[in-house]
Amino acid sequence: MEIKVIVGDIAHIEADAIVVNLFEGVPQPGGATAAVDKALDGAISSLISRGEIKGKFGEVNIVHTFGKPLQVGAGIVAIAGLGKSQDFNTDKIRGVAGEFCRALRKLNCHKIATILHGAGIGGIEPEVSAQAIAEGALLGLYSFNKYKKPEYEDVEEMLIVVREAGKIPILEPAIRKGSVAAEATNLARDMINEPANYMTPSQMAKAAEEIANKYKLEFQVFDSEDMEAMGMGALLGVAKGSSQPPKLITLSYKGDERSEKALGFLGKGITFDSGGISIKPSEGMAEMKDDMAGAAAVMTALVAIARLKPQINATAIIPATENLPSGTALKPGDILKAMNGKTIEVINTDAEGRLILADALSYAQRLGLSPLIDLATLTGACCVALGTLYGGLFSNDQDLVDKVLKAAERTGERMWQMPMPEEYKQQLKSEIADVKNIGDKYGGAITAALFLAEFVDNTPWVHIDIAGPANSNKESGYILKGATGIGVRTLIELASSEAKNQEAT
Ligand code: BES
Ligand code: ZN
Ligand code: ZN
Repeated sequence: MEIKVIVGDIAHIEADAIVVNLFEGVPQPGGATAAVDKALDGAISSLISRGEIKGKFGEVNIVHTFGKPLQVGAGIVAIAGLGKSQDFNTDKIRGVAGEFCRALRKLNCHKIATILHGAGIGGIEPEVSAQAIAEGALLGLYSFNKYKKPEYEDVEEMLIVVREAGKIPILEPAIRKGSVAAEATNLARDMINEPANYMTPSQMAKAAEEIANKYKLEFQVFDSEDMEAMGMGALLGVAKGSSQPPKLITLSYKGDERSEKALGFLGKGITFDSGGISIKPSEGMAEMKDDMAGAAAVMTALVAIARLKPQINATAIIPATENLPSGTALKPGDILKAMNGKTIEVINTDAEGRLILADALSYAQRLGLSPLIDLATLTGACCVALGTLYGGLFSNDQDLVDKVLKAAERTGERMWQMPMPEEYKQQLKSEIADVKNIGDKYGGAITAALFLAEFVDNTPWVHIDIAGPANSNKESGYILKGATGIGVRTLIELASSEAKNQEAT
């Protein structure tokens, strides 16, 4: 879908549908909604007084004009509910855009025109609203069509209609930034939704190579022999059960040639997690094709960064393998030697994400990347702790936490800082190795983070456990069923805000 900003009067735009809005509990619409109401001889206000249009968040009411009265150019007027004005924020705009775009796609609209939601009495800056509309619309219209025909035709064009031409120079780059971020997120969704028989570690490496060629990124892939040479016994241990060869993939963006520094983004790339010999129950196992959501997020964040060109360097590192049981598989009780020399007693082969990340973290430090951010669908315990809306954030550096949380907040990706108490570290003590790979019954997301910390020296590092929000089982706002692409926009935002030419992106 193409998104353009134009100057005009929304009531007289040629489009299949025009979109105005209403806050909940407002009896008489104002601004552009009032102007459209007037053009419709008060149809909107009378539907409000009859209680049909309530302005509830996410509701989209449709008024068909059938060309009469003639003042309204579009045959369809959509009134998007913004919810209660006291609850309004930028993320609500994304949600509203997702909802009205889907509602209008169902009505076969190919060209829609909308006002800038929230920029009037909502108190949101026009460019923030424009970016959020672009993001919400593109994310909300996503569907995974590779193996099934789409239910509806595409919305081809969205016009954002403003009254003053003077705003256009600030709105256009905002729309571009929102579109680039949403397209990267949708690319991550495509990779995550792909079934594990198609998205193998080799396929991930191929996808990364294609990305590198298209966006001029540096690309490297290591196979098991290279891993052997580098001493990556933890990653190799997990890969042992599978006949698909493991890959360690890196993608690098150089936006600041004069600096040696580079951000390090690490993503868990388990293309299928059966649990291995500690096999998972079959119920819900199919969902474990998304155990590479962290990998997809770091890869596609680099795509957006390459397109937005912030003055900063960033490298994505992806350890990719399947976790399967077989005659050659890793067994409970086995001991692995990680790249940093530490020995790990594997108590449970289903705690494999931390094993592959252990070696990836060592490798990232060998490359001198700093700070490090890893994204991983790491523990069911994190879903228990925070539910499916929040990623759990763990770190050794509070300044970095504050930056990441601020970036997340701007994108609407919800993350919550979790503690890493020293006392729980003893749960990882092994009688016969340096550490074991699981802790006791409770606090599993924390002991997983403490395990990862064993493989981080002094580099500032944040671990984000996205096991809860990586996937959604319902459609709402700009989130669809299936992969959400969580983390992509936070990483883009972090790279932009840390860049030297911050305002340029
Ligand atoms: N990939 C899973 C975590 C997961 C669970 C992601 C549910 C998404 C939804 C991870 O590899 C795993 O299996 N973790 C185990 C750890 C346990 C054995 C200590 C878990 O959470 O049960
Ligand atoms: Zn597992
Ligand atoms: Zn896993």
